[in-house]
This record gives sequence, structure tokens and C-alpha cells, in this order.
Amino acid sequence: MTSIDRLSTDYPFSYQDWELRCQKQLDQGAFGYIQSGSGAETTLDQNDLAFERLALIPKVLKDVSKRDLSVSLFDRHHQFPFLMAPVGFQAIVHPDGEKASARAARKQGVPYIASTVSSASIEEISDIMSDCPHYFQLYWPNDQAVAESFIKRAEAAGYHGIVVTVDTPFLGWREVDMTNQYFPMQTGAGIANFVTDPVFNQRYNPDFSLSQTEIIQSIRSILFKQNLTWENIKWLQEITDLPIILKGILHVDDAKKAAELGVDGIIVSNHGGRQLDGVISGLEALPAIVEAVDDKVAVLVDGGIRRGADILKAFALGAHAVLLGRPYVYGLVDGQGGVTAVLNNLIKDLDTSLAIVGVNSLAQLNRDYIKWLGYN
Ligand SMILES: Cc1cc2nc3c(=O)[nH]c(=O)nc-3n(C[C@H](O)[C@H](O)[C@H](O)COP(=O)(O)O)c2cc1C
Repeated sequence: MTSIDRLSTDYPFSYQDWELRCQKQLDQGAFGYIQSGSGAETTLDQNDLAFERLALIPKVLKDVSKRDLSVSLFDRHHQFPFLMAPVGFQAIVHPDGEKASARAARKQGVPYIASTVSSASIEEISDIMSDCPHYFQLYWPNDQAVAESFIKRAEAAGYHGIVVTVDTPFLGWREVDMTNQYFPMQTGAGIANFVTDPVFNQRYNPDFSLSQTEIIQSIRSILFKQNLTWENIKWLQEITDLPIILKGILHVDDAKKAAELGVDGIIVSNHGGRQLDGVISGLEALPAIVEAVDDKVAVLVDGGIRRGADILKAFALGAHAVLLGRPYVYGLVDGQGGVTAVLNNLIKDLDTSLAIVGVNSLAQLNRDYIKWLGYN
């Protein structure tokens, strides 16, 4: 494990304090975009409640003087069991946006998943991440040539896998954003991968004569592919040797199908409560999926990971890794330093929690260490 920087009191320690700090510094539209969920936000709430209802049961009198936070994913050593979730439009939080987050990730050795709608390009983020594990998240554009170009760019830049987000044929029904009349791309954030793409430019802006508003219109017209199916995933398997990870699986049938197809990983996720309101939380969906795929595919989970104990709970239910979303985005309000503080604190919290629950590594956790509360 890397040495952990001295914990600085310049920044908050708790998730709730970071959220407040971010709220104070951002305008209502930008903060609402990050914080809110879709519909009545029952799923957003459920993501937290599920963790509250799962209790840890520590075992004591074990030698926990040596601990290891690393995991192996897709045949690659990952220093930590959490990856930074793909989060688009980070320039709405801080002018340095994704570059600041990636620099903090690289500094701490934390893996990073770059969103399609990043405010820095595929290549810029990969340059920052260097040999630290990093993945490219694909919102499959409704233009196959652009989709292929993104995948080839990610391969050429040195990404370690492609994360295909499969829960977004449309953007969810986001009442907060509609009330605030806020769509982050309108600020110019999140367009870097498109404006730097030779195929996109050739097809939509060949003379470079479009205004930014027109470019954004073109991007929006192809951003989500409503007829994305398993056939496209098979095609992706044919054109790339990179590990393929499907993000946004909640149904056991889909998990089985992904395993049968031979994808490398699935991320059990409801997109942070931002897609279909009323769906099951990732944590609650996890046990049945872990059982169904029977170790044929790596199973990651996200939604509500806030503290070290949350990571322990996910591993006890069989997760191989987790994704950290909103916490680092709130930290980004203070740029690279804020994200670094969030990551540092989580690493330290996790290390401490691991020792107190009574194990030396995350792989030692299993259902002996947990109990669901309040369920029949
Ligand atoms: C502001 C914001 C932007 C997001 N952008 C993306 C994205 O571009 N691609 C994607 O697959 N998921 C995106 N997500 C979902 C995250 O990857 C992740 O699934 C979610 O944040 C997990 O929930 P949590 O942050 O509450 O833990 C976004 C989430 C937030 C909060």
C-alpha cells in the first residue's frame, strides 16, 4: 500500500460535510445535477438505505497487523478495491474537471473510469493516468463509425478496458434538472471527446464551421443508442481485445447472459438512482447476481459507497470491486486537492475498518460477516 498523506484538516472528513461544502460553492443547477436522482428519488434513497440495513459482524482476536487493500481485476493488479466511477461533465464542478480527478487518482494509485462525456479527451486523461489502471466508459453513440472511433482511440491511448453503460437508452426522468432547466452540456462541459474525434468532425463538422451550440446539438442527436442490443456487445468483442465490462446490470437474467457471452465484468448499478426510479439498489441486487454468474465474470457494484465500511459490506456479499461516485465529485469542488483528500480519507477509513472487522484482505470477507436487518 502506498504511504498515506498526513490527513489534512483543511478539508471535511465526512461525506455529508463535503456535500454541503459543494452545495455552498456551486450554483443550484450544477449542484442539483450532481446530487439528484430521477423521479421521486426513491431509488436514490434506497441506495443508502440498503447499506444501513446491512450490518457488519466483526470477528475479534485476529492478527490484523498486516493488511492488503489490493485486488486483482481483469488479470491486472489494482492497488485499491474501489475505482472512480465514470462521471461526466466534471468541468461544471471545477475548471480543471476530469484532469484534476485523474491527477488525484494517479497520485494515490486509484483506478479511474473516464466518461464518454468528459471535459478532457480520451488521450489527455490516459496521459495523466499513465500505467495506473484506467478504463474508458462508452455511451454507445447512435453512429457506429463514431462508436468505433472512440473504441480505437481508447485502445491506442492505452486504456485497460471498455466499460459499456447499458442502462441508458434514454436519460432518466430527472425532475430536478428539468425544474432548474439545467443540462450540463449547454455549459460547454463534456464535449471534449467529440470535438477531438476525427470521425465525428468529418461527419458532423467537416469545415469546422459549426457554432458550439450547433456542435452540442449534433452530439445530443447521437449521444444514446436506443437500439443497443447484445448483438452490439458481440461485435465489440470481435473488434477489441480489451476487457469488456457492462455497467448497469440489475437483473439476474442479464448477468447470466453477460457471463455466457464471455464479457469480462459487470457492474451491478442503478446509475446512482439517476435512471429508472423505483428500481432495486445495486447492493440488494448483488447476492443473486454473484450466485448466478458463479465466478465466470468479475462483479463490481456501485451506488451509495460512501465510507470504508460500505466497501466491506459489498465484498462480504461477493463483490470483486466497487465504484466510488458522488463522494469524489463533491471533493472536486476544491480541485485536485479536494479529490485527493476524499481518496486519502477513504483509503485510511477502509484500512482501519478492515482491521476492526477482523480480516487482513478483502477476499477474506464473506456472508459470515454480515446480517440483513429489517427484512423477513
Ligand atoms: C454527476 C454524475 C454524472 C454521471 N455520469 C455518468 C457517465 O457519464 N457515465 C456513466 O456510466 N455513469 C455516470 N454516472 C453514474 C456513476 O458512474 C455511478 O454509477 C453512480 O454515481 C453511483 O452512485 P453514487 O455516486 O451515489 O455512489 C454519473 C453519476 C453522477 C452523480
